[in-house]
Amino acid sequence: MPVDFYWRMAMEGDQPSLRRKGIVSRGGFTPGAVGGLAPGLRNGKLDGYSHVDYLAEVAKATEASGFVGALLPSFPHTDDPWAAAAALARETSTYRFMIAFQPGFLHPVQAARMTASLQLATGGRTVYNVISGGGGPQQLWWGDKVEHDDRYVRTSEFLDVLRGVWYATDHSYDHEGRFYRVRGGGLPPALAGQPFPEVFFTGSSKAAIAAAGRHADYYLSWLEPLSSLTAKFEQVREHSAGIGRSPRFAVRLDVLARETEEEAWQEVERGWVRPGPAATPAYVGLGDSVGWQRGQDLGSGGNGSRGGYRALEISPNVWGGFHVLRAGPAFGLVGDYRQVAARLDELIALGAEAFVLGGVPHLEEAYRVGAHVLPLLRGAAVR
Ligand SMILES: Cc1cc2nc3c(=O)[nH]c(=O)nc-3n(C[C@H](O)[C@H](O)[C@H](O)COP(=O)(O)O)c2cc1C
Repeated sequence: MPVDFYWRMAMEGDQPSLRRKGIVSRGGFTPGAVGGLAPGLRNGKLDGYSHVDYLAEVAKATEASGFVGALLPSFPHTDDPWAAAAALARETSTYRFMIAFQPGFLHPVQAARMTASLQLATGGRTVYNVISGGGGPQQLWWGDKVEHDDRYVRTSEFLDVLRGVWYATDHSYDHEGRFYRVRGGGLPPALAGQPFPEVFFTGSSKAAIAAAGRHADYYLSWLEPLSSLTAKFEQVREHSAGIGRSPRFAVRLDVLARETEEEAWQEVERGWVRPGPAATPAYVGLGDSVGWQRGQDLGSGGNGSRGGYRALEISPNVWGGFHVLRAGPAFGLVGDYRQVAARLDELIALGAEAFVLGGVPHLEEAYRVGAHVLPLLRGAAVR
């Protein structure tokens, strides 16, 4: 069974290492930060090496290392994934761009046209990561105050309209719904007729799982301890089967893999004991995300000091403390190359057919994972 491995693109800039938590100095938007590479200051002047130049290095490195593409996340503190994908497409040849976006801040007709333009420009390398938002201050930052479950109702209608416009012929698409009204919709002939992007759907709530059942090609989850992930996949399977669909499964996780297990944990320890600013942006955890709450409840909560870092190893190599060392979800894998590959094999056995892996710094860790972990996987022909 072929399995797609994506890498995570550092749309918010990169940390120089996990040891230096909260410091974004590489590929970031902070000229002149200590250790900064992009954009850099030389002799007091910007040297012209931009954030996108750094992203291009990561894209090329991962394309050469066996990854099929990258997830481009979208938060208030990141660059815009649509614009970045358009720029990076010209730097790569087969690399796919999994663009994270919320229906809340895009109209489906504009999304259809933008996607079709990108499909044309890239030879069909666009992939969707449909996110529906985590509520709270972050949601208001986007100017969106639609409540949690209604956001999934809107996501569902958004995808219906987007597909309606995509497949319409002769500007024949009409839609009258709760959130959108379209008359005579459809793409111009030059843009029409291209493959519709694969949909990676996220969200852990009942509302999310209901919407995923209708729309997901892949149900994408953050890593959780394997038993709870199994239960979650089962829930999605059951719900989807009830409406005659069978989405595939995908898992997003960071990996910290080294030649030996000791080396890997030493890297964690160095970041753990080092004081630094909070790695996670202030608005995180203030919303209504069920998925985020699951991460906290499964043992990854707190500021990292309770019980020490090793207490967050919930099952062998599954560590719930990544959010203390860098912004993002809590769970990932820590271990030697063989152990990390074995855990990925277990996830494949659970039904995962795609992964979004990540590591800090994104460039060096991509080379490392590509060279030392992906070749050890037994459960899959890596695509
Ligand atoms: C793998 C994964 C990636 C996500 N990426 C983003 C992102 O880039 N931007 C964002 O605002 N939310 C992101 N989210 C959050 C989801 O869109 C959603 O807001 C969150 O899971 C809350 O939904 P829930 O309450 O149904 O769990 C992501 C979630 C998952 C599981």
